[in-house]
Amino acid sequence: MEKRQELYAGKAKSVYLTDDEDLVILSFRDDTSAFDGEKVEQLSRKGEVNNKFNAFIMEYLQQAGIPTHFEKLLNANEALVKNMEMMPVECVIRNVAAGSLCRRLGVEDGMELNPPLFEFFLKNDALHDPMINEYHIETFGWASAESVAKMKELTFKINDLLSKLFADAGMILVDYKLEFGLFKGEVVLGDEFSPDGCRLWDAETRKKLDKDRFRQGLGGVIEAYEEVAKRIGVPL
Ligand code: TMP
Repeated sequence: MEKRQELYAGKAKSVYLTDDEDLVILSFRDDTSAFDGEKVEQLSRKGEVNNKFNAFIMEYLQQAGIPTHFEKLLNANEALVKNMEMMPVECVIRNVAAGSLCRRLGVEDGMELNPPLFEFFLKNDALHDPMINEYHIETFGWASAESVAKMKELTFKINDLLSKLFADAGMILVDYKLEFGLFKGEVVLGDEFSPDGCRLWDAETRKKLDKDRFRQGLGGVIEAYEEVAKRIGVPL
């Protein structure tokens, strides 16, 4: 398999074409971004930690019957994934109130959300990822009604699987964001799952073990990611 030219560079990952049109290489950089690219820093080892963390989670989900784009780890910073047509929407589930939900609705940070909340956001940094609903997605053609239903179904299934995985390792999966794409007509989980795109708190102390450490300048960002990885058994 041959690595070819860069297809796309995001805020933290780059995508490279390969000699197989169905496969691309996802390259995890050390760049760390928050507030839609307003705050960007390089954090040593982040690319490697997130690549290996993501590989572990994607394989875990795949084994549980969730279709994912993940094919295999290539090296410390790169993974081979399916070349998908990404849908420009972000699927968020919240089990505990935090972040933009508290700012938007004035609810107390840390409040348990039962049943969990599901929210769609438009993937658009210039517009600061505004919250949207299913009608926006259909009217503007960002995804079909069928794909919307599938994304919701998969995001909830993933919530059951990952909430348990982290709970068994002494952590609370507060919230997370997923992105999906279409591969040969099927809705498939894409992008990444890592502490960059979720909130994880220690179940006892409620210590933040995710990108909020970076957003809030708490320090120990990668050390926290490594701690989570170690607790769930990610080989780093
Ligand atoms: P929020 O509280 O900022 O709306 O974010 C909810 C969760 O989704 C949190 O774990 C961070 C994640 N998220 C991203 O990683 N990227 C995004 O662009 C958005 C909107 C959320």
